[in-house]
Amino acid sequence: MTSLVAPSLLAADFSHLADEIQRAETAGADYIHIDVMDGHFVPNLTLGPPLVAKLRACTRLPFDVHLMIDRPDIYAARFIEAGADIVTIHVESPCFHDGTASIPAVLHDIAARGARAGLVLKPATPAATLLPHLPLCAMVLIMTVEPGFGGQAFMPAMLPKIRAVHDAARTAAPALNIEVDGGIDDQTAALCAAHGANVFVAGTHLFGRADMAARITRLHNLHCIC
Ligand code: DX5
Ligand code: ZN
Repeated sequence: MTSLVAPSLLAADFSHLADEIQRAETAGADYIHIDVMDGHFVPNLTLGPPLVAKLRACTRLPFDVHLMIDRPDIYAARFIEAGADIVTIHVESPCFHDGTASIPAVLHDIAARGARAGLVLKPATPAATLLPHLPLCAMVLIMTVEPGFGGQAFMPAMLPKIRAVHDAARTAAPALNIEVDGGIDDQTAALCAAHGANVFVAGTHLFGRADMAARITRLHNLHCIC
């Protein structure tokens, strides 16, 4: 099956976001990946629900919203109202560790609101952390850089984690999409595909490139053979 490609808006020209989304859609993108950062969970700030709501009118492509924030339990609903189709939440968000919220409850809430739910793992977090939650996930996102910034180098040490999630999903969640994010290009995406990933987020590799369509086609053609 063809892999899916989710260009990350973080690398787009923020003064022309509507044009950039259109360009990604015309080039063959499957999702638009939207990185939400709150300046607490990661040391960077990006955008909020009002901007996502405005961008919703620019494309029919699903919005893949990656919440790098302390309180996904509060804001997941706000982003779904704004037009998010997929919402991924970090297992490391502090609200899941101080008794404020529970991962299954937030995953259920996302699904009940009509979006697809996913969990994200930072590089230091082992695959075992999310295995109990796999049946509640439409997607798992494995970070292949430390979240917070685009343009970082891919971490090959994440490859066994991709394989571990892939193998666990065979029985626990056969329809699971396995997404990778950070330092993705032709070479690193091929490695991820070989370990079981089928959704490629790419920022620097795709935006600002004259041959974006050819780059997306090459990523589409990388398949998991495991
Ligand atoms: C980083 C974000 C990524 C980022 C990837 O925290 O989650 O989506 O945009 O950027 P590249 O593809 O440039 O590594
Ligand atoms: Zn991301």
